[in-house]
Amino acid sequence: MGLMDNKRGLVVGIANDHSYAYSIAESLCREGAECLFTHLPGEKMERRCRKAVDKLGLEDYWISPMDASSDEDLDRVFDAIGSEFDQLDFLVHSIAYADKDWLARGKFTATPREVFTQAMDISAYTYMAMADRAAPLMKDGGSMIAMSYLGAEKAVPGYNVMGVAKAALEAATRYLAMELGTRNIRVNTISGGPLRTMSAMAVAGFGDILGWVAEKAPLQRNITGAEVGDSAVYLLSDLSSGVTGQILHVDAGFSTIGL
Ligand SMILES: NC(=O)c1ccc[n+]([C@@H]2O[C@H](COP(=O)([O-])OP(=O)(O)OC[C@H]3O[C@@H](n4cnc5c(N)ncnc54)[C@H](O)[C@@H]3O)[C@@H](O)[C@H]2O)c1
Repeated sequence: MGLMDNKRGLVVGIANDHSYAYSIAESLCREGAECLFTHLPGEKMERRCRKAVDKLGLEDYWISPMDASSDEDLDRVFDAIGSEFDQLDFLVHSIAYADKDWLARGKFTATPREVFTQAMDISAYTYMAMADRAAPLMKDGGSMIAMSYLGAEKAVPGYNVMGVAKAALEAATRYLAMELGTRNIRVNTISGGPLRTMSAMAVAGFGDILGWVAEKAPLQRNITGAEVGDSAVYLLSDLSSGVTGQILHVDAGFSTIGL
């Protein structure tokens, strides 16, 4: 028996098999969940996402293109899920975007308005937009998670506008939890340690960040995608039935260190 038996959910954010969303889906599928998937529109994005999902060894799966910055795309995907399936139990939001030209040291103060707005829209607002559309499908209650990073709480060199967007994502987690709790829908966010993914490569000095964690974190190492995947199982399963509105740090303890 798996911890996610008889639970179906949408996993948003698999770009390839290095993505946090891939590790999360791997843990969820291992525990018996039925995962539905979306990828960014375009043949290349679809091919990359399918290649990763195929590695999960599923017999069959539901997959659709979705640009989360488009309300039309969000409506189309959640309407399709609502008409094809009777119930949704969980949602995984594992997406973020900021113009990488502005993720460099010394380039925060002059961040252009459109760079700020786009980072906020894709990295924070979309959690609310997806929650709004997923909640009516969670007829027997449900659980949602998003992915954040320490740069929401502390100034991390090179994270810049994305740190501001992650702070908004973490605040949104608490407001979503307060509103959706009345429908027995739990909303949490994982603050993950640094992991070599496509998006992470956009952060200037990412290698340094990995080095600091390995040197200073209580566990004296970086975390793996699988460790975040297993924590996602905890938050999306009934194991965490009393937990909502929380930011769970899965970072080898790095966020607890003062020096
Ligand atoms: N890698 C890290 O070090 C790290 C650490 C903590 C948190 N995170 C967070 O984890 C999440 C996943 O990132 P990742 O590191 O796995 O990188 P990734 O590049 O593998 O995944 C990012 C995903 O965002 C998707 N995306 C971007 N814009 C989108 C849009 N408009 N509509 C729909 N999808 C869109 C991409 O297609 C991709 O699948 C992000 O929220 C990221 O900020 C990453």
